[in-house]
Order: sequence, then structure tokens, then C-alpha cells
Amino acid sequence: MPPILNAQGVSKRFGAVPLFEEINFTVGEGDRIGLIGPNGAGKSTLLAVLGGEMEADSGEVAMRKRARVAYVKQESAFAPGLRVRDVLESALVRAGVAESDREGRLRETAGRIGFPDLVAVASTLSGGWRKRLAIAEAIVSHPDVLLLDEPTNHLDLAGIEWLEELLNQADFACVMVSHDRYFLENVATEIVELSRVYTEGLLRVAPNGLPESASHMIPMGRPGHVDEMAGAAVFLASKLSSYITGQTIHVDGGTQAASGWYHNPQTGDYQLGPG
Ligand SMILES: Nc1ncnc2c1ncn2[C@@H]1O[C@H](COP(=O)(O)OP(=O)(O)O)[C@@H](O)[C@H]1O
Ligand SMILES: [Mg+2]
Repeated sequence: MPPILNAQGVSKRFGAVPLFEEINFTVGEGDRIGLIGPNGAGKSTLLAVLGGEMEADSGEVAMRKRARVAYVKQESAFAPGLRVRDVLESALVRAGVAESDREGRLRETAGRIGFPDLVAVASTLSGGWRKRLAIAEAIVSHPDVLLLDEPTNHLDLAGIEWLEELLNQADFACVMVSHDRYFLENVATEIVELSRVYTEGLLRVAPNGLPESASHMIPMGRPGHVDEMAGAAVFLASKLSSYITGQTIHVDGGTQAASGWYHNPQTGDYQLGPG
């Protein structure tokens, strides 16, 4: 099977300094890729390029034949007056779903998202429910790949757990930008780091094998989950065992990663930063 999404040699800059250069990024069946990196590294930009929302300066982003990508931005806002039902119906129309199939699809998706009230006005929902609605809007089209930009930011713990389950049971692949290590621990099959701390290219992919350099990386507990700190070892052993073998990365000096993961270019070590 070819990858669902295949980005090759993708570069993007705003102004003089490139955000990333010549990045290769593929998403295959069953992949749930956590995209991490310091603030300003270009994670949102890369996601928008992968989602076809933004043009790269160079390089190619190809989708497998008939495959669909859906993209959930970091901020979820809806036009005033639109009801939950309107948002989902418009998404079904945009996705070209036949009229006779729309109602069933809409109800199935509303059920998965947990929306009791299809006539609620979207813009009046809480941040957490707006995020759920934005995710519903994306998955109602039955995407092959779902791109999520910091999806847990507006979700409470119940919402995050709901999203974890949704993604773990999904029949679509996903790429999620997140700083929430617990979320990544629970969902990601692979971690990709985008950071200028690397010297050749900007991106590190983690297909197989935990490099020595990642051995100091420890996840922090989610508040209220302190007892699960023991899971840290599991995180390292399982999810991060597939951390970074290093494709192309480049960067210009040691940088404190906003995610709290610190890469020291002198020693090549990763360690938990103070942030
Ligand atoms: N449309 C844009 N025009 C100009 N600069 C932008 C634009 N979008 C993002 N940037 C800049 O690119 C950098 C990376 O942004 P972003 O992709 O949002 O990073 P991240 O999501 O990793 O924090 C930031 O410095 C941001 O100001
Ligand atoms: Mg961002």
C-alpha cells in the first residue's frame, strides 16, 4: 500500500529565515503521529501544508488516490447563528456525500462526538464543545487522515480521554501537534520532532529504535494523574522506543523546547527541561 499522504522535499519560509527545508513526511495506514517541537518551529505551518490549507514554497504533497485529508485548526470558531446540525451538514455537502446518506452520517457522527443537542448554536458552545464540534466536522467526511493542531488545549480531562479513545479506535490515520505528553503517550504510534536544534534539515522521524540520545526523555504527569508517573518508563519503553532515528534535521544552536524536552547539541542528549 502506498502511503496515504506523502510529502517530499517540502520547504516553507516567512521572510528571510526558513521555517523548515526539504522535509519528507509520510503518513501510512494506522499511523498516529505525534508532531512535537518548540513554539514557533513551524508545526502549525507544516500541518497546514500537509492538509492542503497552505502552499509550500517548494516540494510536493501527494495524497493516495481517492484518499481524503481533514484538518482541525488550533482555534475552532464558527460563524454566529450556525447550529451544530448546520456545521455538520455543510461538511457533508463539501465532502460530496449523497443527500440520502447525509442524515445517517450526521447522526452517527453526532453520537460519536457525544452531542445531545443538534440545534445548539455552535458559537455559544464552550471551548471544549467547540473543539469536539470541529473534530466532528472533520470526521463526518470519513477522512483517511485527520490532522489535529493542539487538540487538547481546549479540552478538559474528560474531553481528552474521549479524544484518546476516538483516535485509538479510529479507522483513519492521524497527525496531532501536541505538548501533552500523556495524550501522546496514550495515542501516538510515532513521534516526529520539528526543531531548529537539528543541524541537517528540520525534522526527525522516529520509525524504529530509541536512540541513546533520547534516553533522558521523561514525560511529566498530567495533573491528577500523578500515580501514573510510573507510566513514564512505559512511555519510554514503548512509544518512544520508536523515537527518532533521524532523517533530516537542522538547526542553529541549543534551544529550550517549549514542550519541555531539551536537546543539548553539545552532548546530543535529550533531557527534561525546566519548562
Ligand atoms: N502567515 C504567516 N505569515 C508570516 N509569518 C507566519 C505566518 N504563519 C506563521 N508565521 C510565523 O512562522 C513561525 C512558525 O509558526 P507556526 O507554524 O505557528 O509554529 P508552531 O506551530 O510550531 O508554534 C512563527 O514565527 C510565526 O510567526
Ligand atoms: Mg502551532
